Formats: sequence, C-alpha cells, structure tokens
Amino acid sequence: MIIFKNIPDFKNHIRKLKNDNFRIGFVPTMGALHDGHISLIKKSILENDYSVVSIFINPTQFNDINDFKSYPNDISKDIELLDSISENIILFNPDADEIYSGKVFSDSYDFGDLDKYMEGEHRQGHFQGVATVVHKLFEIVTADNVYFGEKDFQQLRIIEDLVLKIGFKLKITRCETIRQNDGLALSSRNKKLDISSQNIATNLFKALSFAKKNFENLDLEKIHTNVEDLFENFPQISIEYFAIANEKDLKPIKKKKKNQKYRAFIAADISGVRLIDNIKLY
Ligand code: PAJ
Repeated sequence: MIIFKNIPDFKNHIRKLKNDNFRIGFVPTMGALHDGHISLIKKSILENDYSVVSIFINPTQFNDINDFKSYPNDISKDIELLDSISENIILFNPDADEIYSGKVFSDSYDFGDLDKYMEGEHRQGHFQGVATVVHKLFEIVTADNVYFGEKDFQQLRIIEDLVLKIGFKLKITRCETIRQNDGLALSSRNKKLDISSQNIATNLFKALSFAKKNFENLDLEKIHTNVEDLFENFPQISIEYFAIANEKDLKPIKKKKKNQKYRAFIAADISGVRLIDNIKLY
C-alpha cells in the first residue's frame, strides 16, 4: 500500500493512474477503522482499479472540542488492517495544515432543509464542516466512484446534494449499515463504550426495529410513545431525538403519506458517548 501525507505527491500519483485510464474509487473516513468502513472499502476495490482511503479527523465538523480531542485514533492499526486487505489501496492521511493551510474554518453551503433537522439541529455547524472537508477531498482525489455509509444517512443525503450543486462528475454509492449480531451499528465511537454500555446501546436498534415492525399498523404518535416507554427503563440512555422522516427531504413527519420512503432516525448519549443510527421503514 502506498501512503501519502501531502497533497502534491498524492495528486501526482493519481494523475498518472488516471492518464493510464485506471478507475479510481474513494472512501473518506476519520479512521479507527471497523467492519463498517471495511465493507465500503471492499466494495470500492471490487468496482475500481485503485481505491483511495482517506483518514483525516476533520476538526471543523466537531461542534464539541472534547469530542474532537477524544476521537479514537490508531493510525498504525489502521495501516496494518488496510495493508492486509489489498495492494490496490492508496492511503491519503494528511494533517490539518495540509487540508486547511492554517485556516481551519468551514465554508458556507445552503442545503435547504436537509441540514435543518436531526443531526443538523443538534450539532451546530457539523454538516458545514463535513461538506467543507468532503468538497476539498473530492477536488484532491478526483475519484470516479465514491462510497458512503447509510449509517450516517443525513450526511449521505447532504453529500449527494453537494455533488449535484458543485457538479462533480462522480458516482456515489450508498452502502448499507453493518451491525454487530446484537444489532448495534458499528461505529468508531463504540470503542469508547465499556461492555455494559455496549449492551445498553443495543436498545437504539431495538427502538428502530420496533418502528419498522409497526410502521404500517400503528400511527406515528403510538410509535413515539412506545419508543419513549422503552427508554424509561434505561436511565443511562439520554435520547436526543427519535424522528421519522422522508428519505428524500429529511423532514421529520407527524403523519404518513402514501408512496413515500421513510426512515426512522435516533441519536442518544450513552455514558457520555454520542451514538446515531437509522433504519429504512420500507
Ligand atoms: P467516519 O465516521 O469514519 O465514516 C466513514 C464512512 O464509513 C462514512 O461514509 C460512514 O457512513 C461509513 N460508516 C460508518 N459506520 C458504518 C457502518 N456501521 N456501516 C456502514 N458504513 C459505515 O463519516 C465520516 O467518517 C466523516 O464525516 C467523513 C465523511 C469522513 C468526513 O470527515
């Protein structure tokens, strides 16, 4: 595996590959890689000649400085893991100066309602930071295909909108959420939970599964009260939001309409660790 830390060397390498008509896939990450990330990377390897994986803990997308400082970081383990997967991986691992040239600020984007609710409402500035770094990375990497996880569905929709707005010529593939056997969605942040908190965290998936199972036969108010009741039993879980929203515009709804695709979304704090998850309801 080749590793690049600076932009000019990385771009040179990609330019040569593109001149030779190789297809480039791209999986942006913040590292602490787990099987969720690996599923995206394997998809990229299957569909492209070379796959760029970026590992960059992007400071502008953290609304909480302590969350940024304590974000899991184990680059040598990540390198070992990527090395064991394929020779066709190119790791891009810049530092903040390389990406932001000393100006560690977000640009300003208008995503309409896409970033108004759920994560957008609860993490001020988060999606502006995500869009800023992804925009920069897309320009640097010039990939043909990019891979994003449905685990962060609102982020995925915002990136889809960004690609349309900027007019990037690349294809985005949505990748399904990888879970533990007990339903807990894999996340780098799970590493911060002890075993008993991990067990408790499986209730997020239980709530989402309840919504999925009962979406057709219960009205939304009933689903919400049942979910609230479930969490009454777990004082360790503090729910930030539970919402059902249209997949396209991400506006939380109070009443279902026919022929729409909905998802249930949840965010919670468990023993000081913030987790998010979502499930499709169709
Ligand atoms: P990170 O949280 O490291 O996630 C990188 C990619 O892996 C995202 O597309 C995310 O949706 C996907 N992913 C995470 N957990 C997953 C799971 N359990 N199953 C499937 N896919 C999963 O998302 C980010 O980094 C950053 O915001 C980034 C886009 C890199 C910008 O900084």
